[in-house]
Amino acid sequence: MADNFDLKYEEFRNYFNCKLDKSLEEISTVPQVLGDSMKYSLKLGGKRIRPVLMYSVGEVLGVEKQKLTPFACALEFIHTYSLIHDDLPEMDNDDFRRGKPSNHKVYGAANAVLAGDGLLNTAYSILLGECFKGNEYISAAKFICDAAGIYGMIAGQSADILHEKDENPDEDTLNYIYENKTAKLLIAAVTVPSVLKGGAYYSELKEFGRKLGYLFQLTDDILDACGSFDKLGKTTGKDEAEDKLTAVKLYGIDGCKLRVDVVGDDCHKILDGLQGDVQFLHDLVNFVKSRLN
Ligand code: IPE
Ligand code: IPE
Ligand code: MG
Ligand code: MG
Ligand code: MG
Repeated sequence: MADNFDLKYEEFRNYFNCKLDKSLEEISTVPQVLGDSMKYSLKLGGKRIRPVLMYSVGEVLGVEKQKLTPFACALEFIHTYSLIHDDLPEMDNDDFRRGKPSNHKVYGAANAVLAGDGLLNTAYSILLGECFKGNEYISAAKFICDAAGIYGMIAGQSADILHEKDENPDEDTLNYIYENKTAKLLIAAVTVPSVLKGGAYYSELKEFGRKLGYLFQLTDDILDACGSFDKLGKTTGKDEAEDKLTAVKLYGIDGCKLRVDVVGDDCHKILDGLQGDVQFLHDLVNFVKSRLN
């Protein structure tokens, strides 16, 4: 993978982080702990892959970063809220996130629930603010809401919990969990630029997001089983300990690695059907395939 990829990824990430910092400066709550706990999780960092994806697809389609930033912020707020709630003792019970104590370990479970609520609500407020700009903005905002909602990420999280300790795990259920808890937000990241550009390559990008989301959760499950805490910043071996329905449980590590190659190829093939400079997106697929965090 070209050094160029790392540089460009960092460029997108830094641009996003600067914009995010600016929007966080505007958050001032009473009680202060509410805003502090929201900012704590957002500022821990993370790969920012959803904003990076949105900007890079935007570049291919000719949609400026400035236009995408509110949508990228809203999506990262929603993603971060999903992580805070995901880590709660009643859900995955994870003590670490992004290399630091999870939100509830610092602020307590009640504040962590509220920090998640606050992030979700603020995301909606940002999205509604965009809706005044025109119909395509309304469509893009609705797309993110739907991806995050009860037919999207929340449904996936619900199924993930329901199928813990499942004695008869099956592929359809795993696919449902993957598609919703993970792929939906990645689909939103890659289709928002298309929606803002009158639907350019909409179905191709939607399918790309779906496959990339599947690939992303496959590697997440592999890393939970084989990765290192130092690189991941989250506790490993948790899926097995909680008896989660994961690809590792269903296919074993070797079966997962085979699927990584197949789904990675699917992603590349979809990109081959797009016009414009999609090299960064090809590199991003390879990054997800071989990622260590
Ligand atoms: C973790 O997402 C949760 C999943 C959907 C697998 P990321 O791996 O994108 O987490 P951060 O944002 O980099 O911390
Ligand atoms: C969570 O999947 C996906 C979310 C919507 C938060 P995981 O539970 O596997 O994510 P990690 O491994 O805790 O980051
Ligand atoms: Mg989970
Ligand atoms: Mg988890
Ligand atoms: Mg995981």
